[in-house]
Parts: sequence; structure tokens; C-alpha cells
Amino acid sequence: MLIAHLSDLHLYTRRSETGQARADIRCVVEQIVSDLLSLEPRPDLVVISGDLADGGTDEDYRLIRQLLAPLPMPIMAVPGNHDRREAMRHILGERLAGLQAGRFLHSRVDVGGVTLLGLDSVIVGKPQGALCSERLDWLARELEKAEPLTFLIMHHPPFMTGNPHWDAYSLIEGQERFMAIIDASPKRILCGHIHQPLHIHWGAHYGAIAGSPAFQYHLVPGSTAAPTESQVAYSYPLHHCQPDGSVLVHLRHVT
Ligand SMILES: [Fe+2]
Repeated sequence: MLIAHLSDLHLYTRRSETGQARADIRCVVEQIVSDLLSLEPRPDLVVISGDLADGGTDEDYRLIRQLLAPLPMPIMAVPGNHDRREAMRHILGERLAGLQAGRFLHSRVDVGGVTLLGLDSVIVGKPQGALCSERLDWLARELEKAEPLTFLIMHHPPFMTGNPHWDAYSLIEGQERFMAIIDASPKRILCGHIHQPLHIHWGAHYGAIAGSPAFQYHLVPGSTAAPTESQVAYSYPLHHCQPDGSVLVHLRHVT
């Protein structure tokens, strides 16, 4: 079971809402798609941990649907703070694996003895994320029937990143109950939002943040200063689930 983790594509059609997404981001995403198609074996699943769009117009999501169309495997995605739930569901919904009905864009996929739960952590109009009681109730219900090897996909990291500036823009509601809900067994938590790859052993859990092909930051440990952009090479991780429950993480560099 091979899972590719992408995040923060920040694709746009007219202009970059953040003003930061690289002008050739659609070409870079085409290269990532080509790289995924070149893998042997190919990933069984692609997960995207939010900010698929930079502004979230219907045209943006049509572009995303078009760029991802060559991928034959299921794609699972959660929204980020730069996505728009309605447009994302309307334009991309049929392409997204395990997308649940309701006002949040949660999703669930069970494949190859692995459970993947996509948790919508967005607060509309704010960069920070939140897990309200309704979302945490959903998570608790879904975990009751989850495989021992379970991945949680969410845009906002529930753990601190060691960079105080960014941590203020992370999850601001629900961490305590989230931790209590997931603590029954170790989970693998895949996030985005920070635009810099990062791994953490968090309690009994493994957490990972994927980098962004659109723009990345220098994250200086402990710094309270606003991070500056970095030209560090982009790579995305492949999580290779083994029969004994262990997971190898390979990095794919896309130049
Ligand atoms: Fe982002």
C-alpha cells in the first residue's frame, strides 16, 4: 500500500490571491503528476492536505480537476484556508474519494488494510483552523471502526511546529479533545499549511507536514519572526505501508 502525500498546490487561473504562488505552478503540478505516473509500482492513493487552490474560484477548481485528470488512482483531499468548500465540492467532489455529505468536507477511505480519515479543519475567512464538537464527534465515530493503521489527513497541524510565528496560525480550537480521541492507539497525521516539510513524534503518534510546490518558507526553530521564502527544492513523500504495520517514508524530488 503506497500513499503519495501532496499539499498546498495553491493553483490559480487569473491571479494569485496570496500573491506568493509561483507563476508556473500549473507546470510544476504537471511535473508532479508525471512523476506520480512514472512510479513503479504507482501509488494506490494520493492524498492532498488542503490549499488545492490559491483563491478558490470555480475556474481554479476546474483547472485542478483538469491537471489531476491523468491520475488513475483515487485522490483524497481536505480543504485548506485558501479553499472554498462549496466550489471544491461542486467542481471536484465527484473526483474526490470517500467525500462525505454534510457542511464539512470530511472523507473516509478504507483500502489495503489501512483507514484514512480526512478531517476538515477550516474556519471560513480565517487562516487558523478549528475542530469544533461536531467535527470531533464525527472523528470519534469514524475511529470506532478504523483499522489499526490509520492516517488522519488535515490541513492545520494539531501539534506545535517549533516556530512560534506559524503556531499562532495553526489549530486554535479542539486540540485537547482531539488528542483524547486519537490517543487510544497511535495514528499517522498528515498535514499542510506550513509550506515546509516537517516530521514529528508527537506522543504515541507520527506527524508529518508536506512542503508546497507553490512556495516554501525558511522555518528557523524557535524564531518568532515572520518566515521568509525559501528556494529549497520541492519534494513530496511516499508512505509505504508494510505488512507488519510499519511505514517507510520515501521522498520524491521534483525539479
Ligand atoms: Fe497553503
